[in-house]
Amino acid sequence: MVASLEKQVALVTGAAKRIGRSIALRLAGAGARVVVNYRHSAAEAEATVREIEAAGGQALSMQADVTKAEQVRAMFAEIEKRCGRLDILVNNAGTFSPAPFGEMSEAQWDEMLDTNLKSQVLCAQAAAVLMKRQGRGRIINLSSIGGLLPWPKYAHYCVSKAGVIMLTRCLARSLAPEITVNSVAPGTIQFPGELPDEDYIRRTPLKKTGTGNDIAEAVLFLAQSDFITGQVLVVDGGRTLA
Ligand SMILES: NC(=O)c1ccc[n+]([C@@H]2O[C@H](COP(=O)([O-])OP(=O)(O)OC[C@H]3O[C@@H](n4cnc5c(N)ncnc54)[C@H](OP(=O)(O)O)[C@@H]3O)[C@@H](O)[C@H]2O)c1
Repeated sequence: MVASLEKQVALVTGAAKRIGRSIALRLAGAGARVVVNYRHSAAEAEATVREIEAAGGQALSMQADVTKAEQVRAMFAEIEKRCGRLDILVNNAGTFSPAPFGEMSEAQWDEMLDTNLKSQVLCAQAAAVLMKRQGRGRIINLSSIGGLLPWPKYAHYCVSKAGVIMLTRCLARSLAPEITVNSVAPGTIQFPGELPDEDYIRRTPLKKTGTGNDIAEAVLFLAQSDFITGQVLVVDGGRTLA
C-alpha cells in the first residue's frame, strides 16, 4: 500500500497491547510516526516500538495515565517537543469489567467513566490545540457495541461508551472544519490464547469474533478520510443486527 500517512504523527493511547498495539502497527505501516502511550505496560510498549522500527517505521513510547489532566498535559507537551506536531489522535485506552447494578461501588463507576470517557475528553482537548494550529487533524475514539446495546451487568461500561458516541458527535461539530472526529465501535475482539467466545460467535451473522487488525483497518480508513465526521463505524461481524 502507498504510505499515505507519511510525515504525519499519530498518538495511540493504551497502545502497548491488544487493539491499541494493532492500531499502532497499522498506522506506522501506513507511514505515520507513532507515539505508543502506556500506563503500566512499559515492556510491552517498548516491544511495540521495536516491532514498528524493525518493519522500517518510526515510533516512540510515552508513559501517562490519561485519566489525569496533569499527566495528559505533560504528554502533549512532550509530543510537541519531540515530534513538533500531532495529526492523528486515537483514544483507545479503556477498561472493561462487570458490576451488577445493585452492588456497583462509587469507585467502580468513577474508574469506568474516568478511564473510558474522561480520558478521551482530556486527550481531545489537548490534541485540538495542536491540530487547530496546524489547520488539520483526525480524532478517532474507540467506543463499543456496548454503547449501543444495554448490558445489564455492565451499566457503567455501556454508559461510558454511549458517552463516547455522543462526545464524538459533539466534538465533530465543535472542532470542525479543521478536525474530523469519528468513532470505531468494536464487537468482541479476541487475541491468541483466549478461549473462543462461543456465545458471540453463535449470535453473530458472520459467525466469528474480530481481530485487532479488523479494528486497525477501520481506524486507518477514518484517519485517511476527508469527508466523514461525527460517525460511528461498527465493526462487529453484524452482531448488532441480530
Ligand atoms: N477487546 C474487545 O473485545 C473490545 C470490544 C469493544 C470495545 N473495545 C474497546 O477498544 C479499546 C481497546 O480494547 P482492548 O481490549 O485492547 O483494551 P484493554 O486491553 O482492556 O486496555 C488497553 C490498554 O488501555 C490502557 N489503559 C487503561 N487505563 C489507562 C490509563 N488510565 N492511562 C493510560 N492507559 C490506560 C492499558 O495500558 P497499560 O497496560 O499500559 O496499563 C491497556 O493496555 C478500549 O477502549 C475498549 O473499550 C474493546
